Amino acid sequence: MAANLYRLAVSVSAKAHAPYSGLKVGAALATTDGRTYAGCNIENASYPEGWCAETSAISHMVVDGGGTIADIAVFCSAIDLITPCGGCRQRIAEFGSPETKIHLCDGSGIADTMTLEQLLPRAFDFKEPKSEK
Ligand code: THU
Repeated sequence: MAANLYRLAVSVSAKAHAPYSGLKVGAALATTDGRTYAGCNIENASYPEGWCAETSAISHMVVDGGGTIADIAVFCSAIDLITPCGGCRQRIAEFGSPETKIHLCDGSGIADTMTLEQLLPRAFDFKEPKSEK
């Protein structure tokens, strides 16, 4: 399954719209019930308006009904071993668990696998406000 996510991440990275950074990033995720979604980064002339490959993949999952992320692979041919940015770690946390596996990929395949807990220890989590004393 992880090997399939690697292939998907590589192929979707070719679709990235990254004329400003030149970094074409691909991400592919699998849900705990076995669905897969892929996405690429999409940059904008107004730089802060661009977004990451992981965010695109997560948005595809959400519009298809949501789910829980079991695994996510990230690939960028121009970087030895890309890791999700801080914001994407938090987005993965929103739809994952501390055990969610993050596969860090290079040109030859999955080079390392880490858990979300390792990449984002003590992630911000908020369910409901504490009651006033
Ligand atoms: N990028 C991603 O797509 N995912 C990450 O986790 C890190 C950064 C993209 C955003 C931007 O288009 C380019 O890489 C350079 O930052």
